[in-house]
Amino acid sequence: MNPKILLIYYSRSGNTRALAGKLIEKIGCDWVELRPEASFHRRVTGYLKAIGHSLLKRTPKLQNTGKKIASYELVIIGGPLWAGRIASPVRTFLRENRNEFKKVAFFVTQGGTSGGERVLRQMELDAGTSPVASLVVSERNLKGQPLKNAVQGFLDQLKDTLLKLKPPAIEPSKGGKPVAGGAKKITASSGHETRT
Ligand SMILES: Cc1cc2nc3c(=O)[nH]c(=O)nc-3n(C[C@H](O)[C@H](O)[C@H](O)COP(=O)(O)O)c2cc1C
Repeated sequence: MNPKILLIYYSRSGNTRALAGKLIEKIGCDWVELRPEASFHRRVTGYLKAIGHSLLKRTPKLQNTGKKIASYELVIIGGPLWAGRIASPVRTFLRENRNEFKKVAFFVTQGGTSGGERVLRQMELDAGTSPVASLVVSERNLKGQPLKNAVQGFLDQLKDTLLKLKPPAIEPSKGGKPVAGGAKKITASSGHETRT
């Protein structure tokens, strides 16, 4: 598990959760699901509340994620489209943490085939930083080869960032026991430790 990367998402009906699961499996990172204090899960009233939140650009209170966002080098944030906007719990998270992010990447699921790109721009404004990668997937592409292609496209965009954030290799120590991080080297010019 890469301790420098956090994936965080909101999902009302499971689509974004399924996509998040695939990304977590491929990237191997820490993750958490956003939980708003007020629920949107009821079929009719939850749906209507979600629409209202989108139209009024509301920011529902979230339960504490228990994560220190500033301690991650990359935060990957995902959510569904609601009435042409990002789901309100994701809006809350982006706005509350806009000064904490180092690097961000976004993923969005949508029922139809349009709107996602505009939502990515809203997310960027709310986060106060441009994403190093972004992905929009329509419901009909959330399975089979289209899903694999979508995930691979996102990973390709993230390639350079993931390489830089690669966790230290586990190498055997002199005594034969594995130690995390490999050999330590102190660079004379900076005094920083690097690992080789
Ligand atoms: C309240 C609400 C509003 C929605 N509005 C849109 C929309 O404007 N455009 C769209 O393509 N899909 C829309 N959808 C569909 C969802 O974006 C889509 O089903 C998404 O994958 C749901 O993700 P989830 O299962 O993770 O909650 C809406 C869904 C809900 C519940």
